[in-house]
Amino acid sequence: MKWTDLATTERHSARTACSGGASRTAGSGSQGRALRTRSGTRFVAVLALVGCADQLPDDVANYRTDPSCVLMNAEPLPQRSDDPHEGEKNVYACGALASKLQANARPFDDGVVIVKESIRRDSDYPWLVSTARKTDSGWRWEEYTRNFADEPFLSIPVGENVCIDCHRRVQGADWIFTVYAR
Ligand code: HEC
Repeated sequence: MKWTDLATTERHSARTACSGGASRTAGSGSQGRALRTRSGTRFVAVLALVGCADQLPDDVANYRTDPSCVLMNAEPLPQRSDDPHEGEKNVYACGALASKLQANARPFDDGVVIVKESIRRDSDYPWLVSTARKTDSGWRWEEYTRNFADEPFLSIPVGENVCIDCHRRVQGADWIFTVYAR
């Protein structure tokens, strides 16, 4: 299967599998047909990844234009040597009090969501969004991805321990690496 076929099928299956009440039944409807005609482990893996995945929550869906989301970094952050994700990063804080954000006050308040976008080299749109959401004085860690600029971001099942293990390095800064620098 060509990559373009894969991407088209993936988009199709994400929509059909999740519209109208999230039926995950393999082997029925268009998803089942797709599996029979386009069998192959790669396709099955991709299907499992996007099947009924959640989209970016409303409060961060428009993090680039939403006035409640503020860009924290002055320059795009370069890819790190231990970076699992390709590309340059920008970090936004959504729902934070401006005065506290600008003073780099820690800890962040409940309801604040820190959003990190990653943009691949030779590309002009984000392909990955990582979020840290402050709830009950702790962070919830989530990631979302997409293949193309006109697609919605869909959640990737991540083990939060992976995130926590690395972010622990900055536990003293409320687990958040980036400081407001604008
Ligand atoms: C190997 C270390 C490492 C791992 C694993 C990791 N991060 Fe990060 N993360 C960083 C660093 C370093 C930054 C600072 C920005 C940069 O350079 O990318 C960062 C930045 C972030 C930010 C912006 C806020 C901040 O801390 O600067 C979010 C949100 C985030 N990561 C979410 C996640 C999520 C969700 C996961 C797990 C799926 C994760 N991270 C896994 C190292 C890591």
